[in-house]
Amino acid sequence: MRTLKKSNSRSAHQYIGTAVNGGTRRAVPCVDVLQLRDRDTTSPEPKTGHNKVTERTRMNNDTERFWHIRASNYDKLYWAKDGDYLDAIVETAHFTRNDLVLDVGTGTGVVAERIKPLVRHIVALDISGSMLEKRRWEGVSVVKWDIRATLFADDLFDKIVARMVFHHILNDLNEAMRQCRRALKAGGKLIIAEGVPPSNSRKVVDWYSSMFALKEERRTFTEKQLVGYLGANGFRNIQTTVYMMDNFSIKNWLRNSGLSKENQCKIMQIHTSADKTIKDAYQMKIKGDDCLVRTKNLIITAEK
Ligand SMILES: C[S@@+](CC[C@H](N)C(=O)[O-])C[C@H]1O[C@@H](n2cnc3c(N)ncnc32)[C@H](O)[C@@H]1O
Repeated sequence: MRTLKKSNSRSAHQYIGTAVNGGTRRAVPCVDVLQLRDRDTTSPEPKTGHNKVTERTRMNNDTERFWHIRASNYDKLYWAKDGDYLDAIVETAHFTRNDLVLDVGTGTGVVAERIKPLVRHIVALDISGSMLEKRRWEGVSVVKWDIRATLFADDLFDKIVARMVFHHILNDLNEAMRQCRRALKAGGKLIIAEGVPPSNSRKVVDWYSSMFALKEERRTFTEKQLVGYLGANGFRNIQTTVYMMDNFSIKNWLRNSGLSKENQCKIMQIHTSADKTIKDAYQMKIKGDDCLVRTKNLIITAEK
């Protein structure tokens, strides 16, 4: 393990590993809290097998393209900036002025910015350079990295936060959780926030999955599954808080998610034509050309 030199300023973009535009490595300033494993930090590729490397490269390119499209309007999404949702995460996490925090899948940094004034230091990590480039980062250490690959020293962070990230990790989710656990101090907490179907009835869960399938390839989580993943990866004292978001605008969400007009129409239509069970589960209201729903979000804390 090596400790990198302290930077003179914490206000610059502090990228470690691959430069944001890919390819070349840059010498980057970095604060001393970022204890990195003594390893090549250029790219988290598998070590053996040409086919495996090619497959991983293809996946990385697809992921970058996907988030590049979504990055342009991400900050216009009402749900992402919902103050009550951010407050609920902060209340659940019990941050302290001494905490060193990692925000996994930070995206454009909405959660990191909310947490920053409450803690000692925050490290924002994301696989997508396009998402990271949307913010002019101040006083945050920024890392372009895949959470499934080892980067940080063991037992480093007091808390790790990941909002709306794990449902996007289609492969090696266990590895992502193991990496989080490894980088946490003993007694440190992982705080996960994820949207889930508004009810656990099979019909509602199936509707939720098929509706999201029109939008993207992703996981549908239930509380039971998430708690199961955390437990299987060594976390304990797993506790769930539910945050219900009222008046979630489907129109705002579809417009700003990088979808084709055709898919936006299909997803709006699947909402407006849903049957009573689904409409009731979402407390759905039609308002002009918009559809407002009540979404269910879990904030789960788990201890190392
Ligand atoms: C829906 S956005 C959430 C952004 C932010 N957490 C928020 O709540 O506003 C999901 C983010 O997870 C990132 N992500 C997905 N897979 C990742 C991985 N394996 N490692 C790191 N980041 C990842 C994406 O690039 C994207 O920025």
